[in-house]
Amino acid sequence: MKAAVVFRWARRPVRAAARLLLVQEGRLLAPPDWPAAERRALENWLKAAHFVGAAGTVAWPSGLAPAVLLVGIGKKNEFEAARWRRAWAAAGRALAKERATTAISFAWPERADFPLAPAALAELAADGLLAGAYAFEDFKARKTARSFAVEFAGPELAGAAVRAAVRRAEIAGAVLRELRDLANRPANELGPQELAAQARKLARGAGLSCRVWDAAALAREKCGALLAVARGSRRPGCLIRVAHAGRRGQKPLVVVGKAVTFDSGGISLKPGKNMEWMKYDKSGGLVALATVLLAARLKLPRPVVAYVPAVENMPGGNATRPGDVVTARNGKTIEILNTDAEGRLILADALSFAAEEKPAAIVDVATLTGAVIVALGHEATAVLGTDDRLTTELMLAGEAVGERLWPLPLWPEYDEMLQGQFADLKNMGDGSAGTIAGGAFLKQFVPAGVPWAHLDVAGTAWLETEQAHGAPGATLACARLLAEWAARSRLDA
Ligand code: BES
Ligand code: MN
Ligand code: ZN
Repeated sequence: MKAAVVFRWARRPVRAAARLLLVQEGRLLAPPDWPAAERRALENWLKAAHFVGAAGTVAWPSGLAPAVLLVGIGKKNEFEAARWRRAWAAAGRALAKERATTAISFAWPERADFPLAPAALAELAADGLLAGAYAFEDFKARKTARSFAVEFAGPELAGAAVRAAVRRAEIAGAVLRELRDLANRPANELGPQELAAQARKLARGAGLSCRVWDAAALAREKCGALLAVARGSRRPGCLIRVAHAGRRGQKPLVVVGKAVTFDSGGISLKPGKNMEWMKYDKSGGLVALATVLLAARLKLPRPVVAYVPAVENMPGGNATRPGDVVTARNGKTIEILNTDAEGRLILADALSFAAEEKPAAIVDVATLTGAVIVALGHEATAVLGTDDRLTTELMLAGEAVGERLWPLPLWPEYDEMLQGQFADLKNMGDGSAGTIAGGAFLKQFVPAGVPWAHLDVAGTAWLETEQAHGAPGATLACARLLAEWAARSRLDA
């Protein structure tokens, strides 16, 4: 059994239960009924421990019965959905790791003036709690993640809007947990075909249509770029399409996700150190699948289609060599200078399929470049695109669900970096502006007039070490964002 988080409601906190209290700028945000003596004791503890309540910090002050979990939410004038969500993720992490506390009660603090309504705050909180409590322990004999219940107490959190918001987070949380389990599977367990089988199973379970092109079908479809990457592995590549029909009459939103089940670099082999993380190079593909499953489970009216090109990038005897020239499905020729710039090759062919859906917009999501980590670290996903309306919609959706996007330019001047010497394009530039070069390459495969954006999640798709707000492993960053965007988008409405 997997550890679970249960949400429930109560009129007032049970006296004996553990309680969760927020801390902001060294101040306790306690509900009005909090006993004055306990309040003073906690305030003294805050001072002695220098616990100011930075966002994402948590503490269990010792010697208190019933126990209290203090959760820092950061400074008042720095409030942001992403920071609030992360604070609750840290609470979820702390609760999943705590043996003694199986239920915790939270009541709305007095004099709380947050810039969002309680329902929005509760949805972010529930989402954060679920995300933070998750850990991938399928291969561990000794599981550490524990189940717990969160009880919302008092009238402020009792309304229908709050309950519906928490319910939405629960529905989404179930989808995300299942897909995080897949994203966390190592490459020996999950190759392209295993991923396709899982996608089929998930689609069937959600009543969605699923189609898979195998290597032979992709050859018939002239997917020379995708197949050039796949050929270095004994495990054949494929392309997966999963569609949520929604209500008729609107053009679909298409999400294309890079699924390299392992990226060794191919003949342009990566250095050995840290190569194990390249099992997460399939993250974009799982985010695309998550988006369409969330659209189905949340019953969104808008049709949403996911395309997932899936390959293993290996340096086998049949592998593509640097200098090889291949022809993509849209007819453009590509000189492959570096076989480690493989994500853009498989996405190139998937994007040309996506464009045939007559979509209102295409968004691709990919762990595309190490350079995005140089630019933004692990705090934000880069967004690049050709349509300001689409980019703005994505940024606003991210702001709503607490997932940060930050824009980089795609001015036409950058296209020159990718002019091939012996073909129409080369698959990398001179090394400068690496993330933009990736985006500029992908742009060549989206027909003019189709709104398109590219999300580079290389810095946000996984955590390498245990963090206050999350266990190591896949995060599925941008899945919530894309589902929110699909719910709100007015493109071609
Ligand atoms: N999957 C990698 C990008 C990556 C690197 C993600 C590190 C997360 C952490 C991608 O396929 C890749 O290898 N990109 C190259 C591109 C270069 C050869 C133009 C890179 O970023 O070095
Ligand atoms: Mn690579
Ligand atoms: Zn890669």
